[in-house]
Amino acid sequence: MNVIVTVDENWAIGNRDRQLVRIPADWRALQEQTAGGVVIMGRKTLALMPQGQPLLRCRNMILSGSPAYAVRGAETADSLSALLKKLDGVSSEEIYVCGGESVYKQLLPYCDTAYVTMVEKSYEADRYFENLDRSEAWNMTEESDEQTCFDITYYFRKYKRIRR
Ligand SMILES: NC(=O)c1ccc[n+]([C@@H]2O[C@H](COP(=O)([O-])OP(=O)(O)OC[C@H]3O[C@@H](n4cnc5c(N)ncnc54)[C@H](OP(=O)(O)O)[C@@H]3O)[C@@H](O)[C@H]2O)c1
Repeated sequence: MNVIVTVDENWAIGNRDRQLVRIPADWRALQEQTAGGVVIMGRKTLALMPQGQPLLRCRNMILSGSPAYAVRGAETADSLSALLKKLDGVSSEEIYVCGGESVYKQLLPYCDTAYVTMVEKSYEADRYFENLDRSEAWNMTEESDEQTCFDITYYFRKYKRIRR
């Protein structure tokens, strides 16, 4: 599986149920990357999408423990095992884990590639992603040139798992 995440320099990803930063080019890159694939999100992250709607151009799988939970344009799963069962037969390379913190934690062990947008700022935060630079299991294999959005500097990075 792949994971897609935007982090600040402390590997923070969110605060008070909100994104830390919204960068239009980063949002477009996520949509391009996931087109034609399967995206996995937690219920809270879906609520943060534009109008709380699933992503277009891909199959959306939303995790929620509530049996009554349903979303138009998305499939739901009420446990990790139910999710993995529904993904049986789907090529792992087509699957993108899109957050939030709880979903990243549960599914990072299944991921071999990480698309990380690294924002050179430090935000107030209460949600984090594992610091892949400090992990012996991951190596950065690609980094874009410096990108800017107003006063924000950021980089598109790719990491590969080198061991389990
Ligand atoms: N920077 C980024 O790239 C990025 C990307 C995504 C999200 N975020 C940030 O992450 C934060 C949200 O993360 P979060 O951890 O609070 O919420 P989350 O992971 O988006 O959603 C959590 C919810 O997902 C459901 N869930 C998770 N695992 C489950 C499982 N195994 N079985 C059944 N349901 C499961 C539960 O829903 P129920 O309560 O309905 O049972 C749970 O309350 C926000 O601040 C957001 O901005 C950042």
